[in-house]
Amino acid sequence: MLVGACGNAAPADPDWKAAQEIYATCAACHGKAGEGGVGPSLATVLETFPDCAEHQEWISLGSVKWSESVGDTYGATDKPVAGVMPSFDKLTGTELAQIAVYERVRFGQGDLEAERLACGLG
Ligand code: HEC
Repeated sequence: MLVGACGNAAPADPDWKAAQEIYATCAACHGKAGEGGVGPSLATVLETFPDCAEHQEWISLGSVKWSESVGDTYGATDKPVAGVMPSFDKLTGTELAQIAVYERVRFGQGDLEAERLACGLG
């Protein structure tokens, strides 16, 4: 049983540590606490991407490739793509799942076990 992810407490989970390292790249735009900056706050990421596969696809593609291959809006709430999120297609499938779970649990208040399953780390 993994420890719940309340606040900033890091669960005893090796994937969490890996994701924390990846998130350092994201924090420049999304804020250290996911509060937003150049990029949007990640507090409502579960509403944007109820489907974790789509969340991971977004991170992999970034704004430009997303608008080229998917469309001018993203997510379940049809947010406009502004074109400044870089592509992270060098991340492996596991890394994409790790960073998606991290954002969904730490910032979106999702349940760790449920999100691990939904994102393919279960
Ligand atoms: C250079 C700035 C920048 C960096 C670095 C960046 N993003 Fe973004 N991100 C954005 C912008 C801007 C948007 C909004 C969409 C747009 O403008 O195209 C966004 C949107 C998102 C969203 C959708 C959130 C929502 O609810 O609308 C997620 C999830 C996301 N980024 C994850 C990441 C992850 C994970 C990383 C690191 C691997 C990352 N971003 C790095 C700028 C950035």
